Amino acid sequence: MRAVDIITKKRDGGSLTTDEIHFFIEGFTRGDIPDYQVAAWSMAVLLQGMDARETSDLTMALAQSGDQLDLSDVVDVALDKHSTGGVGDKTTLVVAPIVSACGVPVGKMSGGGLGFTGGTLDKMESIPGYDINLDTRGFKRQLAEIGIVLSGPTAVLAPADGKLYALRDVTGTVPSIPLIASSVMSKKIAGGADAIVLDVKVGLGAFMQDLDDGEELARLMVEIGVHAERQVIALLSDMNQPLGVAVGNALEVKEAVNTLHGGGPGDFREHSLVFASNMLLLSGRFEDFPQARAAAEGALEDGSALKKFIQLVDAQGGDVSVLEDLSKLPSAPVKVELTAGTSGYIHQIHAREVGLTAMELGAGRAKKGDAIDHAVGIEVLHNVGDEVEAGDAIAVIHARSEEQAQQAVRRLEAAHGIKNESIEPLALFYGTIGRD
Ligand code: URA
Repeated sequence: MRAVDIITKKRDGGSLTTDEIHFFIEGFTRGDIPDYQVAAWSMAVLLQGMDARETSDLTMALAQSGDQLDLSDVVDVALDKHSTGGVGDKTTLVVAPIVSACGVPVGKMSGGGLGFTGGTLDKMESIPGYDINLDTRGFKRQLAEIGIVLSGPTAVLAPADGKLYALRDVTGTVPSIPLIASSVMSKKIAGGADAIVLDVKVGLGAFMQDLDDGEELARLMVEIGVHAERQVIALLSDMNQPLGVAVGNALEVKEAVNTLHGGGPGDFREHSLVFASNMLLLSGRFEDFPQARAAAEGALEDGSALKKFIQLVDAQGGDVSVLEDLSKLPSAPVKVELTAGTSGYIHQIHAREVGLTAMELGAGRAKKGDAIDHAVGIEVLHNVGDEVEAGDAIAVIHARSEEQAQQAVRRLEAAHGIKNESIEPLALFYGTIGRD
């Protein structure tokens, strides 16, 4: 078999066999197939596509390129979640404790955030002392003992995906739906997940701007699950405007804790409950969705989800006193309000612009390895559909300096669209794929 023949076959629209896909990814992992051939192949895949069988084979080849975890000695069903990335998406911080408090263990490995989307680990690291670097033994022990873990990867999961993503990033081949689907699913499968709830974000602040593309990605990932004998539900959710109010690491932790206390913004609370209910349903311990939803609501109302979060932070070395007194979280020295220039209805809060503004303030990283500032960020005080008066505060910028705050004010002003006519609020979800 030769790499060049596999590239030309895909270039000409052919369907690659299982053996060809494994040969190609194994050769790439070993370093026998050079980057330039893999880059050419990625472009052929972007232009010609891959069917579900090919994409499943690619997923398994990527998953098998490194360590593969088996959590069956500590949990009956290894349950995981994944979001394709959004602005203000602190869902894991609320969903994992809810699900765990309902008696279903959640051990989740995440990565740091990149670009305009935040990462779960960056948020958790705003809590002083919180350790994200567990090893596999520690991960499993904690999962068995308290039923909740939020950590970085404990093993080398799908290293070929990391190498492939780096090439895609510089060759214009990131937006290929089969390449995204296999990239996401390979890491989940290598991490030992049996059942996965996916949050496929759609809109101005998401990878997938278009609902049809989001649906195609969601369907493909659910099909990969079928091929790989994993249960997968994909939710299509809105990412035209930020989720909740807070965008920025410590601000998002604060909002997550307030939500666990029974408060928090309505859209974020509802998003978290829907997500947690789907995870509970997939665990097999609940008869139907309404029963799972009732359990999720109960865990928020009776404080057991909050208790789980405190237990998690304590187990991973974080300072739990911060959770009782949120003013101890890192906070920025400069706070500036953005006010509405005119009266009317909010038609747009451009999620990507908000995410990029937060990144410029220091809340996110432009490239891998950049340091981030946990204290800075933005509070987006309204949702699309809200009526505002000229002079009302519509956002609060938390910045390191007055100059950075003023730059953010200008950018955020342009990100908000206010018009005279009223407009319906945006939907939270656009559909569910993979649930009966
Ligand atoms: N997230 C991933 O993990 N991989 C992609 O290719 C895109 C988003």
